[in-house]
Amino acid sequence: MSRFIIEGGRKMEGEINAQGSKNAVLPILAATIMSDGKNMIYNCPRLRDVDMTIEVLKNLGCRADFDGGCLEVDASDISGYTIPDELMRQMRSSIIFLGAIIARFGRAEISMPGGCEIGIRPIDLHLAALEKLGVDITESHGFIHCVRKKQIPADIHLDFPSVGATENIMLAACMTDGITTIDNAAREPEIVDLGRFLNRMGAKIKGAGTDRITISGVHKLYGAAHTIIPDRIVCATYLACAMASGGTLAIKGANPKDMGAMLSVLRNMGAEIYEDRKKLVILSPKKLKSIGTIKTMPYPGFPTDIQSPFMALATQCDGSSVFVENIFENRFRHTEELVRMGADIKTDGRVAVVIGKSALTGARVAAPDLRGGAALAVAALAAEGRTEIDNITYVDRGYEAMENVLSSCGIEIKRRE
Ligand code: UD1
Repeated sequence: MSRFIIEGGRKMEGEINAQGSKNAVLPILAATIMSDGKNMIYNCPRLRDVDMTIEVLKNLGCRADFDGGCLEVDASDISGYTIPDELMRQMRSSIIFLGAIIARFGRAEISMPGGCEIGIRPIDLHLAALEKLGVDITESHGFIHCVRKKQIPADIHLDFPSVGATENIMLAACMTDGITTIDNAAREPEIVDLGRFLNRMGAKIKGAGTDRITISGVHKLYGAAHTIIPDRIVCATYLACAMASGGTLAIKGANPKDMGAMLSVLRNMGAEIYEDRKKLVILSPKKLKSIGTIKTMPYPGFPTDIQSPFMALATQCDGSSVFVENIFENRFRHTEELVRMGADIKTDGRVAVVIGKSALTGARVAAPDLRGGAALAVAALAAEGRTEIDNITYVDRGYEAMENVLSSCGIEIKRRE
């Protein structure tokens, strides 16, 4: 297992580029299989989750190769409609292929999804919606078998604005005859990016980014070229790193419009944040102020994905901060590791109370999941001495070579196998 070794106490100073968004590119790669031409995906981040998605594409019979920062996917020779157990187990978000495979083949077989263990993460909303679109679904031996009996458009109301379910419905419905609507749809920027890509392929989707999406079915989709949006969670993680170290950072290509809730929290902590010639710049205050209560919510609320990195930062704020995790029931696994580093955090169910400011000290800790691992990196920058973070393969799922990014800004960080 790989680990990071980070020396605390250095200021993060410099300029970095925003990487492409993981959560945008994954459903977009799934969408490519609905065309029979070549797709050019620019600004595609080089991540473990992307590598695994490429494995899924190849397993289905697609050609997928990087040419610099552009991933070319050609689905002309696609032949399979099954995602085997070993691939599904590695990455829960492969569930996003379900809608696309059904759209292309009228049938799909996938094993029940795996991925980061951050709660139960059911897929009932995905399956109920696909059934409404005329798909017959049976489950046996850990596999989901789907056969589209007929193509029926539907008016689908989601009980919760699930990101994955909204994407799966968009994928399945864009080649379903008639008009499908999604009410209480997820409004995340990544949904907007998927809608943009599908429309470039020839789909007719309106309202992506609002809570009502309308999809008029078309018969054919074509290969398309698309540039992935910047990763708002990764950008906010590096802003938190800069703050934890008391430094100054500029991020080229970040989109602050998608980061409202996160930037507002950082400003409440005392950061000065502004845009300067397409760069997002953060200046750390001398002292960080406590942030009161933060509740994770669907977009445009405060994202669950940044809860743990910001909790690490909250250990450096004067006074108490409260985090309420409303999206995933098991997303406080980083707290134990932060406590090992000297943080004062108490959790009770979905609530965590952080009392600051704590003098963190370097320790040997382990990433419990993707964002929990990022949180430990934030804490390591604020800590005195050396922190070793084990299990950083989790971090590699969503952060492009974090060690290069941090060391380019003066942080002493090494990767050890
Ligand atoms: C996506 C993101 C993930 C982010 C999450 C919430 C990707 C690849 N992942 O995950 O990084 O943390 O959105 O912003 O884009 N739920 C159900 N039934 C369902 C589906 C979801 O009960 O059928 C529940 C989940 O258990 C969870 C909540 O809805 O409590 C949110 O899940 P969802 O929005 O679907 O997240 P993902 O698409 O899995």
